[in-house]
Amino acid sequence: MLKKLFQRKNRETTVVLMNESKLYKPSAATLKNATVLNTEAVYKDALKNPVKYWEEAARELEWYLPWKKAFSEPKKHFFNWFVGGKCNIVHNALDRHMGTPTEKKTAIIWESDHGKRRKLTYKELKSAVCKMANGLKSLGIKKGDRVAIYMQNTPEIAISMLACAKIGAMHSVVYAGFSAHALRDRIDDAKAKILITSDVGYRSGKHIDMYSLCNEAVKGAKSIKHMVVVKREESTRKKNAKRDVWYHELVEGQSEICKTTVMDSEDPLFVLYTSGTTSKPKGIIHVHGGYMVGINRTFHWVMDVKPNDVYWCSADPGWITGHSYIIYAPLMAGITTVMFEGAPNYPKPDRLWKVIEKNKVSIFYTAPTLIRSLMRFGDEWVEKHDLSSLRLLGSVGEPINPEAWRWYHKVVVKGKLPIMDTWWQTETGSFMIAPLPATTLKAGSATRPLPGIIADVVDKRGKSVRRGEGGYLVIKNPWPSMLRGVFNNPERYLKTYWKEIPGYYLTGDLAHKDKDGYFWIQGRSDDVLSIAGHRIGTAEIESALVSHPAAAEAAVIGKPHPVKGESAKAFVILKQGYEPSEKLVDALKKQIRKELGPIAVTDEVEFVDKLPKTQRKDYAASFKGKGARPGRRGYVGARRLNHLQNTQLNG
Ligand code: PRX
Repeated sequence: MLKKLFQRKNRETTVVLMNESKLYKPSAATLKNATVLNTEAVYKDALKNPVKYWEEAARELEWYLPWKKAFSEPKKHFFNWFVGGKCNIVHNALDRHMGTPTEKKTAIIWESDHGKRRKLTYKELKSAVCKMANGLKSLGIKKGDRVAIYMQNTPEIAISMLACAKIGAMHSVVYAGFSAHALRDRIDDAKAKILITSDVGYRSGKHIDMYSLCNEAVKGAKSIKHMVVVKREESTRKKNAKRDVWYHELVEGQSEICKTTVMDSEDPLFVLYTSGTTSKPKGIIHVHGGYMVGINRTFHWVMDVKPNDVYWCSADPGWITGHSYIIYAPLMAGITTVMFEGAPNYPKPDRLWKVIEKNKVSIFYTAPTLIRSLMRFGDEWVEKHDLSSLRLLGSVGEPINPEAWRWYHKVVVKGKLPIMDTWWQTETGSFMIAPLPATTLKAGSATRPLPGIIADVVDKRGKSVRRGEGGYLVIKNPWPSMLRGVFNNPERYLKTYWKEIPGYYLTGDLAHKDKDGYFWIQGRSDDVLSIAGHRIGTAEIESALVSHPAAAEAAVIGKPHPVKGESAKAFVILKQGYEPSEKLVDALKKQIRKELGPIAVTDEVEFVDKLPKTQRKDYAASFKGKGARPGRRGYVGARRLNHLQNTQLNG
């Protein structure tokens, strides 16, 4: 019975994906435009010598001083790229466009939740970045310092990130959906000196009090010296006159010139926290040199960027997608990037299509969750709009189910345009498995590893599994935009990514390759959930739950969800003296919201006497060497539960 239920639940994600064999060949128009045409030769060449391939990619950017050595491994599993090279990503994103026709081009088109629009040319953006960089310097920020940023999707978030990078400070952007508690944890771990935020944010017409949240977050955060606040509402008053600085006052009177700091290729650019298998998030470190090379090459090749493109990535700058492909890569490419603060269905379900039509967006990059949610409103909302400016679509963040893929393809672009399903991670910095525009597509597959990337599906001993068989997705060679470590925690870096399957970078995802060598991502193999494309650790949610006085123990699992891809369900054992009730369910959900933020709140809370545990050895044995690991603390971890279900289904 249970097995049947699992089979039903997983039919979409497992069976359909495996049987999807319709081929979508590129159209003549796509081929005519494609930057890379002779794909097979390019893949073959890159495979022969990946380092040479990446060196060629690095030459497309400007360096203050060329590298002496393309690649080295000074310590086992710690990799350096473009060793001895001097650069700064901001030089490539802004400085080098000055004095060229690009300086007059629109760099950012911003649309607020209310529909207010603002445009900044490259020249205006550079001047705003210089002023902010000088402002940060005046507050004592120096090369290597960490600056936390907690803001909605507004031009100021981009300006602040670029200003930090310009002067060699590391930005640590925290997604503005996290709670004060989660923000504080990240500030403390990075020992950020400054927090940049705004007084309010807006979403779906709602007013979000960012300032109060940040005020609570920095209370007791010893490292914070100042809070820089963008004033969006006249009525806001400073809460702490000594600590708080208005953004507009900070930049007022600052010079429009600020020399870009010359960085070593391996100097850190930012830290970005992401969820892992423990209750503590990991600060993923990226550096100037390799990161800029990785995102620049992949953006040009996969998104097939042309100088007049208006590109919109609907992610949030608080995640890696926003860092790499809303801000840095589009600016390095000198094209127009759209930033949108609002929600895709506010005030009406066609808001997103309106933004595309109004701005003549030519490349649109979004997440399957969003596609699924818009699909539900019906085709008429799409059909009302002239979307003929589009010439390429992208998808990221979670497996795109074939049904959503086909809707995106058929209804949004009348079957004419390619969809680039890009598989990558916070840790990888840039796209890893993705098609090129000339690639023949299959709905639901991210196709093949990009040139310069060697990926495989292996068993727990690192042996390649047969085509069609599931296993662990690993990367077999280092690549320039890879993480350089976990902030303040080299052991965690080694343990998470390099020790489980020795010799290979462990992605944490399960996948299989079909007969044509196409990769199909099946979800995570560890205790990390992807709720609406947001990466949340089950251990983080469990830890939030047990911080409530009523909860003795908790276990969180992921469940398939028709729109969000996955939702979280909590099992909770209550302490003596507490009785299950709806009120307590609400209180526990509130606790998660308080500790982590709304994105982590579980859809369900079930009170149990025993947690769904498996005996470590029984659990491992149930896989009969199919690559499983025992569950953390003996619980059936969320992903492993899925894996177990899939294994039963396939077995
Ligand atoms: O499970 C994979 C899923 O998202 C995880 C990475 O999450 P994060 O670091 O937050 O970065 C998301 C944006 C790059 C991966 O381990 N994932 C990402 N892209 C895809 C995907 N799963 C399937 N298909 C994708 N295209």
